[in-house]
Order: sequence, then structure tokens, then C-alpha cells
Amino acid sequence: MIAPMLEVEGLTAGYGRTVVLRDVSLALGQGEILAVLGKNGMGKSTLLKTVMGFLAPMAGSVSLEGRDVSGQPPHLTARAGVAYTPQEYTIFQDLTVEENLRLGVPDDTTFAERAEMLRDHFPRMLERSRQRAGTLSGGEQKMLIMSRALLARPRLMLIDEVSEGLQPSMINRMAEVLTRVREGFGTSILIVEQHLAFALSIADRYAVLKLGEIVEEGEAGDPAAAGVLGEHMKV
Ligand SMILES: Nc1ncnc2c1ncn2[C@@H]1O[C@H](COP(=O)(O)OP(=O)(O)O)[C@@H](O)[C@H]1O
Ligand SMILES: [Mg+2]
Repeated sequence: MIAPMLEVEGLTAGYGRTVVLRDVSLALGQGEILAVLGKNGMGKSTLLKTVMGFLAPMAGSVSLEGRDVSGQPPHLTARAGVAYTPQEYTIFQDLTVEENLRLGVPDDTTFAERAEMLRDHFPRMLERSRQRAGTLSGGEQKMLIMSRALLARPRLMLIDEVSEGLQPSMINRMAEVLTRVREGFGTSILIVEQHLAFALSIADRYAVLKLGEIVEEGEAGDPAAAGVLGEHMKV
């Protein structure tokens, strides 16, 4: 049996002594897209930070392709093929768009080989390559963060609320790009979201996080999903 790309088992994590995630278990197969849904403050970002290694688990484990990586520092997780796009805007404002993009690849040759891919996905990133990144609009900065992650050719992407603050047309573009990346490269994607329609349009399965616990799971295509989810997502 092939080990899942990502397996989280009985994960408990938080900040200092404050427990945020409680006994969370989930698995993500190769090339699979799982959407973890939940309102503000439910622990979505904490989950991704713990998987990436920014936070050490208090209990439970995180495994990548069968290898226990619990508590492994983020740069090693990245080296293992995991790309993380945080909820915050994490570009270098004073560098150009291209300089920011180059941070996603090990060397110039790799950049030259892969940059072409952006012409399809986010052409604006090539058109604006010499522009200072801090002068991009909020939506363009999100594109830049996503482009940098894609240039790393990750095997697993951890995507934190990429739809937040984006116009509908940009949200559609993100959905299209992520769907194509999965088809083209077999990339596994763990996406955390409050935007149900967007998340369910790209995901195979969903799980709902409520106060740090998974309270509901299902197939994204299940027509009952929207109703069940609506209940959990009410303010
Ligand atoms: N750095 C931090 N220190 C202490 N508590 C935090 C920190 N970051 C988040 N929290 C708390 O953890 C809980 C979950 O936050 P978070 O994972 O950001 O939720 P979500 O991403 O679903 O909005 C919230 O109660 C939040 O206040
Ligand atoms: Mg969050």
C-alpha cells in the first residue's frame, strides 16, 4: 500500500499552554485535494502551521509519505516538497516581482525552466516582473505568493485562505490554476477556507473544523454537503 502524502493523527497543538487543535486526524492521498472548512478562530491556520513545523505538536503526529515529521523545522518540511502559502501577505515589498519569484527556486536554470508555466497561470507576474512587489494590488500579491509556491513544484501544497480579499474573477482564476496543477503534476493540496463554494469546487473531500475539532467530513461532490456545511458555518 502506498503511504498517504500526508497523515495527521491525533494532533493536539496550540500556543504556549493554550490548546487550539484537539485530537485532529486526517489523511490526504497522492494528488488529492482536501478542504478544511471553518469559521474564524476555529484553528485552520494553526493546523497548517503545525503541519509545516512552525508549531510543535503537543500530542499526536504528522507524517509525510509514511515518514514521521512531527516537530521537524519548516525549512526541512519545505525541502521534502511541501509549499505553504500563509494567510498573511508574505512577499518582500522592496524586491521586484521577479526577485520574489526567484526565492521559490534553487537556481537560475530552474527558474528559467519553470517561469514559462506562469505565462499560462498568472501572466501578469511576467508582465510585471520588474515592478516593486509592494506596489502590486492585494490580489496581485496573492498571485505572487501562489506563483512562488508553484515554482517550487511542490508535491504537497498547504494553502491558507487564498480567497480572502480576492475579487470573484481572481477566485475563479485560483480555482482553475489549482485544478490544473493537480491534474498536471499530481500535486496534493490541503486548503483551509471559509469560502465554501470556492473550496468545494476544487476539493475531492472536505472536513469541518469547529473549535479545534473535526466535526464533519464528506465528499465535496455530495449534494448534501452544502446543507450540512451551511449549518456549521453559520455565524
Ligand atoms: N500566535 C498565537 N498565540 C496565541 N493564540 C493564538 C495565536 N494564533 C492564533 N491563536 C488563537 O488560536 C485560535 C485559532 O486561531 P487560528 O488557527 O488562526 O484560526 P483560523 O485560522 O481558523 O481563523 C484562536 O482562538 C486564536 O485566537
Ligand atoms: Mg486563519
